[in-house]
Amino acid sequence: MAAKKLNHHPAAEMWAGGLSDDIDHVLWSQKQLAARIEELGQVLTEHYRDRDVLVVGILCGSFPFIADLVREMNIPVAIDFMAVSSYGDRTTSSGVVRILKDLGTPIANRHVLLVEDIVDSGRTLRYLVDNLKTRHPASLEICTLLDKREARVVDIETRYIGFTCPDEFVVGYGLDYAGKYRNLPYIGVLKPEIYRT
Ligand code: PRP
Repeated sequence: MAAKKLNHHPAAEMWAGGLSDDIDHVLWSQKQLAARIEELGQVLTEHYRDRDVLVVGILCGSFPFIADLVREMNIPVAIDFMAVSSYGDRTTSSGVVRILKDLGTPIANRHVLLVEDIVDSGRTLRYLVDNLKTRHPASLEICTLLDKREARVVDIETRYIGFTCPDEFVVGYGLDYAGKYRNLPYIGVLKPEIYRT
């Protein structure tokens, strides 16, 4: 199928195919994401210069963000991943998180930077931070691309934030709905009819 231009929003400077038909409007274009991630990379480069830093991506949503972020960090970094799953559905989550894939390396005395695509209720990160602190890292900071503050249920300190996110159903650039839309190169709001059907 021929690609068509997503031209109903000025922030969409891209050509896209069928996936974009499900997007109501774009919140951050590919260019806007790249510009902000470049800024974050510069800040993190300064903060972690001359430190032994382990960048930890939380799968699956963080995969494009962490890939772009570490390439904007002009220092040596080690990279690892964790995969987690919440018990229950999103609305009845107890905040107890099951670790599906743990880190491959010890973090004692290392500077750990947790990288997330989005902080919503904060429950996932609250659990992860409490868990990882028991392993005695030298420091533990959070970098999230999106911070949906309006949805916060538990207190969690996010030191590095890409954008404050409105309380809307956002997808793209790692964020999914039912496992899809992660490969959109921008972040947009899903049309309500997609998730109400
Ligand atoms: C998303 C996101 C965070 C979590 C945030 O992951 O990547 O890990 O939800 O929500 P919270 O602040 O309410 O805990 P999700 O469980 O959707 O898995 P995914 O990364 O595989 O999409």
